[in-house]
Amino acid sequence: MSTTKKIGIITGSTRAVRVGPQVSEFITKVLSSQLPPGFTLHQIDVATFKLPVFDESVIPAAIPNYASFSHAHSIAWSDEIKKCDAFVLVTAEYNGGPPGGIKNALDYLHHEVHGKPFLVVSYGIHGGGSANDSLRKTLEIMGAKIVETKVCLTFSQKGEKMMGLSEDTRLASAGQLGASTLEEWGGQKSEIEKGFGEVKEALVKAPE
Ligand SMILES: Cc1cc2nc3c(=O)[nH]c(=O)nc-3n(C[C@H](O)[C@H](O)[C@H](O)COP(=O)(O)O)c2cc1C
Repeated sequence: MSTTKKIGIITGSTRAVRVGPQVSEFITKVLSSQLPPGFTLHQIDVATFKLPVFDESVIPAAIPNYASFSHAHSIAWSDEIKKCDAFVLVTAEYNGGPPGGIKNALDYLHHEVHGKPFLVVSYGIHGGGSANDSLRKTLEIMGAKIVETKVCLTFSQKGEKMMGLSEDTRLASAGQLGASTLEEWGGQKSEIEKGFGEVKEALVKAPE
């Protein structure tokens, strides 16, 4: 039996043009540099599952097995999440909360995340802390193990503002992570590593 622990890096934003995949790439690079043997990283992009607004007739928490789902999209999403032992959830913040797409995607799940460690990483104009808190609460209710460290990454506020938005915030909205932002986020690597350390610790403690 393989004891390799698979960590899913979930990209939660689903817009046609989005910066989410680049944020996940930044996180992946940080984590890859401290990945011990026995751990693998696995990319999960919510957008690729094209989930409709939750349309199953069952409550995921109440069903004994996944055969109770009636739609192929639910089964594909559930199967993908089931494969992983722990997660780093990368989320944007829209209007003070998580993007509807990631909340909707989580609503399809229960057993697939129950008891599994989660580090939530948010990004935004002020770090996306409200979206982060909201998803931590949702995941807690679903029985996931949320690690103590909460990572909030703020787009650089350098440069000229237009309509109140910094240059790098405007760039992010157009799907590009700015150089100043990447440089500033480099200073938060130890925080990301700390959160991931807590994920690894929770995994080691978890019963097989
Ligand atoms: C509908 C919408 C609402 C937004 N609301 C917020 C917000 O409440 N807080 C924030 O920090 N940024 C907000 N933004 C700006 C986003 O941080 C920025 O566009 C970022 O690129 C979104 O991530 P994404 O590109 O992965 O979708 C909002 C963007 C959109 C599209």
